[in-house]
Amino acid sequence: LRLHLAPKPLADKRVVVTAGPTREPLDPVRFVSNHSSGKMGYALAGAAAELGAAVTLVSGPTELSAPTGVERIAVETAEEMLAAVRARIGGSDLFIGCAAVSDHRPEEVPTHKRKGKEPFALALTPNPDILAEVAGLDPGPLTLGFAAETHEVLAHGREKRAAKGVDWIAVNDVTEAGAGFGGDTNRVTLLGPEVEESLPFGTKREVARALLARLAPRLA
Ligand code: CTP
Ligand code: CA
Repeated sequence: LRLHLAPKPLADKRVVVTAGPTREPLDPVRFVSNHSSGKMGYALAGAAAELGAAVTLVSGPTELSAPTGVERIAVETAEEMLAAVRARIGGSDLFIGCAAVSDHRPEEVPTHKRKGKEPFALALTPNPDILAEVAGLDPGPLTLGFAAETHEVLAHGREKRAAKGVDWIAVNDVTEAGAGFGGDTNRVTLLGPEVEESLPFGTKREVARALLARLAPRLA
């Protein structure tokens, strides 16, 4: 019953979320990736759906199941993630870039498995910046990005927000206990046009709800 009575401030909104790591192939059987669990992005997708939004979750490989009511699109590489985002971003109201997009990908991917014992040098080329591209769309959705930093956390967060032209950045200090990759808890500071607010430490679900509660009035 509570479900039906709960306020749905995002009832007519469309939200696109990226989550998880990307995998960049090295050869047909190997890849370069990172330790992202996808938990923060999935929590955000679930929290947006709870608020009534139509949510598309573009996800790299994770162990998680899609939150209730969320459409999930599974991708592997950053380029696939960008293509999936481009295909669904038109007409959306909010883009949340939570994926740990691999900054680089191997420049050349041989069609045959690389053989052992022979040394080889790996040349990496930068991947497209999905968040910056969406932030540059006009018309485009409001944008929330994340920044995982190890030092001068706020300064780097402010720089990233300005450089990418995003509306909000949630920064976290990944050296803090309970706020790193893979865990169930997080602490973020939300940097935005009229806010710089340190949100309470909590589960990723709690942090996701707190973030969306701050953003929802701007989406209305
Ligand atoms: N991001 C993205 N596409 C990329 C790299 C990052 O969409 N190719 C997004 C992430 O999802 C996150 C934000 O940009 O929301 C910041 O990611 P982060 O790795 O902290 O920043 P980078 O811009 O990649 O800078 P660097 O890793 O050099 O600090
Ligand atoms: Ca990066």
